[in-house]
Amino acid sequence: MRLGSGTVIEVVGLGDAGWAALGEPQRELVRGADLLLGGARHLALVPPVDGQDRRTWPSPLREGLPALLADVRGSVVVLASGDPLRSGVGTTLVELLGPPAVRIHPAVSSDTLARARLGWPAETTDVVTTVGRDLEAVLPLLAPGARVVVLCSDGRDPARLGGLLAGRGLAAARLTALWHLGGAEEGSRTATAGEWADQDAAGRATPDLVVCAVEVPPAERLAGAGTGAAALAGAWGPVPGRPEDCFDHDGQITKRDVRATALARLRPTPGAHLWDLGAGSGSVGVEWCLAAPRAGCTAVERDAERADRARANAQAHGVAPASRCSTATAPTCSAGPPRAAPPCHVPTPSSSAGERATSSSTSPGRPCRPAVGWSPTRSPSRERPSSSARSDASAAT
Ligand SMILES: C[S@@+](CC[C@H](N)C(=O)[O-])C[C@H]1O[C@@H](n2cnc3c(N)ncnc32)[C@H](O)[C@@H]1O
Repeated sequence: MRLGSGTVIEVVGLGDAGWAALGEPQRELVRGADLLLGGARHLALVPPVDGQDRRTWPSPLREGLPALLADVRGSVVVLASGDPLRSGVGTTLVELLGPPAVRIHPAVSSDTLARARLGWPAETTDVVTTVGRDLEAVLPLLAPGARVVVLCSDGRDPARLGGLLAGRGLAAARLTALWHLGGAEEGSRTATAGEWADQDAAGRATPDLVVCAVEVPPAERLAGAGTGAAALAGAWGPVPGRPEDCFDHDGQITKRDVRATALARLRPTPGAHLWDLGAGSGSVGVEWCLAAPRAGCTAVERDAERADRARANAQAHGVAPASRCSTATAPTCSAGPPRAAPPCHVPTPSSSAGERATSSSTSPGRPCRPAVGWSPTRSPSRERPSSSARSDASAAT
């Protein structure tokens, strides 16, 4: 969508200290806005202004924004938390309106504040948002010694996260919940994932405005941490080739060495998209998504039970939003693709940039033209995808 020419939406990030911590230039913007948009919590943080039109976000946000912004007149200021481009409304506005129509005024983000409290450098810490998503999104980032800041949906999440980690053999991981960072109510609690899991069982919660900082013990300490952690060892990291027993399957699974070889040939890159026709257990799509940031997969599986299993495998590995499986019969080469994807492929050493293909299956894919195009569509991903182009590849499994 487009705004009137020259209209720029100012997006002002607020910390937990609200108005008191806002700089004078940003205060001027807020006071002078004809239309002030934000969540109820943010609107309540700024003093009233006579005659100012104040509105809360439509729900669902992305669908409701075009109507809300369609007849914008005068100056528009949006209130957001922290850095509006960190899992925030700034990202949505830039995607909808384009960068020239949105000016971002960031405050310090919650993950930066969390790292500051713990002394964790940005270079050695990953950040993942689970706001409105499965907590499993943290799983691809876990490895011996890993540090991950997890943006949470609410105050039950720290205990739930503890339960998730403990259930995956990481009861010894250190989990710090930090709430109301930068505000008068700031607080934190550090315990092992196993101890947090007990809190979950007891239904305990922290305040809702909370992030978690997870630290996985180094490999030598994990080695003695029990069979769960030992089983994880074969599944760490982005490199494809996980053992078959990392996936639920009925025998229709691409064997690990074939999977590793096929994916190595396909060369997943950040944001690249795979079409997996005949997904079986979904292991190829899962490993594609784990292999590169923001990589996505559209899988097709004609057997409904297997399609369910492929979805469950994607969820169990924390890539459910990125790897989607439909129950359908893949089109034949002559029938054409369901989207802009090539219908089936065999490995082609000649495949070049933007053209990646494999047959990684228990039953070989039907050879046909190895064409893979650049797709304008976006991929659902762990972090919200950028609007940049990405390449498509396909796997006939
Ligand atoms: C939708 S994300 C937006 C993040 C925000 N753009 C930022 O830069 O921090 C909201 C997440 O940030 C967390 N959050 C925001 N402010 C916080 C604060 N002051 N202390 C702790 N967590 C905070 C929320 O609990 C939630 O997990």
